[in-house]
Amino acid sequence: MSFQPTFDASEIEDLLNGKRGGEHPSLMSVLEEVQARYRYLPQDALILISESMGVPLSQTYGVATFYNAFSLKPKGRHVINVCTGTACMVRGAKKVLERISDRLGIQPGETTEDGQFTLETVNCLGACALGPVVVADGAYSGEVTGAKANALLSKVMAEAKTV
Ligand code: FES
Repeated sequence: MSFQPTFDASEIEDLLNGKRGGEHPSLMSVLEEVQARYRYLPQDALILISESMGVPLSQTYGVATFYNAFSLKPKGRHVINVCTGTACMVRGAKKVLERISDRLGIQPGETTEDGQFTLETVNCLGACALGPVVVADGAYSGEVTGAKANALLSKVMAEAKTV
């Protein structure tokens, strides 16, 4: 069973109503808030937003799928990205990815059952000379080995327990 966060339509309606108090909200700003609240854009939310704002659903999906900041799949509280670009793979990214995947018990693109961790891969982070590169909650780590990946994961897991 995959991680499925709860979605409350009334929260989206409240958000839209709150936004209407000021100037006309932009589609982008509404999507940003929904993404921040749920860590993804639920399909029902996109439909609700489109109807409420009078924006074609195709346009809403267009924006939601264009920007990397948005996700149509639920994400965990902590997102770990392993670069699997050529330079990082040559330097051992496969082992790093396997180590993290084994420890979390999920495959790339999946989220742990408790909704804490999402493991993703990316093609290049623009720091090839530092490969293998791992980004955990936005923090870059370079020259990651299996041992360093373990330590990095332990740190993120410890932080997850304190939140
Ligand atoms: S290939 Fe990994 S940072 Fe470029």
